[in-house]
Amino acid sequence: METGQRDSFGSRFGVIAAAAGSAIGLGNIWRFPYVLGENGGGIFLLIYLLLVAMVGIPVMLSEFTIGRSTQRNPYGAFRRLAPEKPWFLVGLMGIVAAFMILAFYTVVAGWTLEYLYQAVINGFRGLSSDEINVMFDHFRAGTFRPILWFLIFMFMTAWIVVSGIRKGIEKYTKVLMPFLFVLILVMDVRAVTLPGAMEGLKFLFRPDFSKVSAETILEALGQGFFSLSIGMGTLITYGSYINKKERLGNAALNVTIADTLIAVLAGIAIFPAVFAFGIEPGAGTGLVFKTLPLIFQEMPGGYIFSVIFFLLLAIAALTSTISVLEVIVAFFSEELNITRRAATLLATAAVAILGIFAAGSWGWFAGMHVKNQNFFGILDFTTANILLPLGGFFIVIFVGWFMGTDRVRAELTNRGEIKAAYMPVFVFLVRFVAPLAIALVFMNGLGWI
Ligand code: PHE
Repeated sequence: METGQRDSFGSRFGVIAAAAGSAIGLGNIWRFPYVLGENGGGIFLLIYLLLVAMVGIPVMLSEFTIGRSTQRNPYGAFRRLAPEKPWFLVGLMGIVAAFMILAFYTVVAGWTLEYLYQAVINGFRGLSSDEINVMFDHFRAGTFRPILWFLIFMFMTAWIVVSGIRKGIEKYTKVLMPFLFVLILVMDVRAVTLPGAMEGLKFLFRPDFSKVSAETILEALGQGFFSLSIGMGTLITYGSYINKKERLGNAALNVTIADTLIAVLAGIAIFPAVFAFGIEPGAGTGLVFKTLPLIFQEMPGGYIFSVIFFLLLAIAALTSTISVLEVIVAFFSEELNITRRAATLLATAAVAILGIFAAGSWGWFAGMHVKNQNFFGILDFTTANILLPLGGFFIVIFVGWFMGTDRVRAELTNRGEIKAAYMPVFVFLVRFVAPLAIALVFMNGLGWI
């Protein structure tokens, strides 16, 4: 099965849009603000940016390189590059991470549908900050609705994945992502002109060095991996669909810049409002859902903006969930030799079961706790802060030390067609800087050193 038969992206913008679509999602708009809020604000942002540049870009480019050179799912890619060696375990770990991420991420995606519904029926109108709090907590502690929305979202994801890469994923992402960007800018303008906005901007941008801890740094690393969709083979899989003429280095750089920009813009929308309305920045997973409705109340045209915003947020989540499901589907269909349809069905059913537990984390399954974390929190922490950094570590080690410089060069230069002057820097980063940084942050964060 060579390139000719394999589905692929149709255009350069399509590639960037799809990879950026995977990267940009709830990780930027929901997770980034809440994790930053819990981890000291500005200092978190600073560490985050450093880690994205030093570790994030090398891991992303490594994934594209592995994916395009093998044209395989993460497991198959390692099998092909290192037959008879245990590297395929890195691919398998990615598949496991994909299951776990989908199970909790799609739950939050389901919340965006509830909020879209509330926006449409004008459900936030006239509610005070306290009432909006209660509304969210109440919704999330329910049994039926969180599960229903989760299942609906899972179904939508599966439906798009079944239609394949070019006709499914690419078509939707290309048109919709630019809209989201513009809308966040509009919300930024509203947020920074709220009375008391300055306080929020200071929280976001002024690093308070007394707040650094080993855990903060690990959280920043985990958030970086999560937000960039790296460390578990999503971008190996997408890389395998990238046309041989694309410049991988440019793609990695552009996707990283777009993703980081959206996270920072989301922070600029959220934190001024957090302070203006007296919300606790460390409020946790509900932060964004408790803040956004209040911003809309203060906006002329708030009704229509809120409807469009939650719609776009749901779509941004969808372009991420499809990329995670695609990892599992590519694995099942290529390794078990089953059809795309059967693979999607199998994966979706398995995730649905796990997700029903995750969706109940504040409701029927709230009794399940490990060290203060509910089931949702366990999935979130384990994937972002453990499995993804670990995967990323092995991916850069593999590309830096085991894949072979010729093979890497062939991908970065499109077999000699273009120059890749940055190659020595990249090699240095993947061999030394990125693995060392990940190892240090990781062991330090878990209290091992
Ligand atoms: N990067 C996505 C987001 O920020 C989430 C994601 C994580 C997608 C891991 C794929 C893999 O929303």
